[in-house]
Amino acid sequence: MKRTSNHKITICTSCKHQGTNCRPGYELIERLRNAIETAGDSVTESFEISGVACMAGCGRPCTVAYHGTRKATYLFGDIDPETDIDDLVSFARQYAHLHDGWCSSVDRPGKLRQTTLARVPAAIIAIEDDQALVS
Ligand code: FES
Repeated sequence: MKRTSNHKITICTSCKHQGTNCRPGYELIERLRNAIETAGDSVTESFEISGVACMAGCGRPCTVAYHGTRKATYLFGDIDPETDIDDLVSFARQYAHLHDGWCSSVDRPGKLRQTTLARVPAAIIAIEDDQALVS
């Protein structure tokens, strides 16, 4: 049984296929939800999959982000709902196991080795005692 998790996959719903008005983000959300459901317990964490209007990767549609508490955040571009679902599921499987979410490009599955637009480390925010007392 999967634990309740704060692992998230966010998909841009505004990205258009290059040169068209087609916005495949909703299709990508549906396909990825179904694929992760089908993968069952091989993906050891639950992922909330949702859409957002834009993630500032508009020149590399579709964009997909992975994020979780105390984990690195990734933004991938050039994702095609027709051909890249397996790589996205594989990365969900991998991301669930990484304690800080950090991995090198050579360790990412398939196309995701070359389509990473950003990898942002988890924020470690320490508040000094005296700063906490100021507010
Ligand atoms: S429209 Fe998709 S990232 Fe901007």
